[in-house]
Amino acid sequence: MRRMPTLTLIAAALLMPAFPASGESARPARVMSIPVPDADRGRIIFVAKGCVVCHAVNGVGGKAGPALDASEPAGVFDPLDFAARMWRGAPAMIELQSLEFGYQIDLTANDIADLAAFAENHEIQRKFSEDEIPEIMRGWTLEGYELLEAPQ
Ligand code: HEC
Repeated sequence: MRRMPTLTLIAAALLMPAFPASGESARPARVMSIPVPDADRGRIIFVAKGCVVCHAVNGVGGKAGPALDASEPAGVFDPLDFAARMWRGAPAMIELQSLEFGYQIDLTANDIADLAAFAENHEIQRKFSEDEIPEIMRGWTLEGYELLEAPQ
């Protein structure tokens, strides 16, 4: 029997339908994975990532962005809802971060989940104080939106 050239085999593989024909069992969907939010870690990265330069919690931090104190009364929180809020604020945040830091803060899914947990945890927020901000960062907090105003 004549052997098919390798290229023909590759082409045949590429042309095979991506999905099984009807009647065959469908491929299982990817399993959804959601990080377990850790409010204590969120408190640490709120400072380490520089959110505190523009946002206050418990009266500590900048005022360029809205305070991120936990809502009253405490209830259910959704890390994806927090991500959606960040997304809405993204244009202004990115512009300010680029001006202030020279880069856009990079966040993993875990970081966002942990920040969301911190933003909704009264107990942990009550412990948040100036002492958590390293000396060198204390003068960096932004007080307002001036930076977004058009240059004179
Ligand atoms: C350089 C300043 C700056 C930094 C740093 C910054 N933000 Fe913001 N953030 C803003 C501003 C300004 C807004 C408001 C944007 C608007 O109103 O359009 C905002 C909006 C938000 C909102 C939406 C608030 C609402 O009204 O619901 C969230 C949530 C948020 N930021 C979280 C964070 C987190 C978490 C970090 C750190 C990873 C961070 N921000 C870092 C300036 C900043």
